[in-house]
Amino acid sequence: MTTNNIDWLSLKDTAVKAMKKAYCPYSNFPVGAAGLVEDGRIVSGCNVENAALGVTLCAECGLVSDLINTGGGKLVAFYCVNANEIPEAPCGRCRQLLYEHGGDDLLLMTAEGIRTMTQMLPGAFGPNSLKEVTSSEAKGDHDGTD
Ligand code: THU
Repeated sequence: MTTNNIDWLSLKDTAVKAMKKAYCPYSNFPVGAAGLVEDGRIVSGCNVENAALGVTLCAECGLVSDLINTGGGKLVAFYCVNANEIPEAPCGRCRQLLYEHGGDDLLLMTAEGIRTMTQMLPGAFGPNSLKEVTSSEAKGDHDGTD
């Protein structure tokens, strides 16, 4: 799949449908997110808030759950909308969530146009970062005691 044959309108349509399902009685700020998987599937999610405000699930959390629950795979394109149906920037935590499943090349629709994940989350920490420290001596026993 190349940048050119991504159906951004379908992705937006799915994101808007998800946004309309949002449960956000505390912020009244509905968000919908849609992702295109490398095999052509479209996955989506909406934000789900909670009376314990910090427990709120962003729309991207639902999207990642949908991705894994429908067979996994790599995300290649992402579209997130707010109630005005215009692209919304994923928060920092959600950039990290998306990085795990899309990597550096994931394309994100933003209010400023299409951006790569490298542009949205430069120098990201990811699965490869964990492999960089390999020796058991370097890892040690780090159990919180000296
Ligand atoms: N929100 C998302 O769903 N995704 C983001 O990336 C940014 C913020 C939601 C969380 C909360 O329900 C509402 O937007 C207001 O912050």
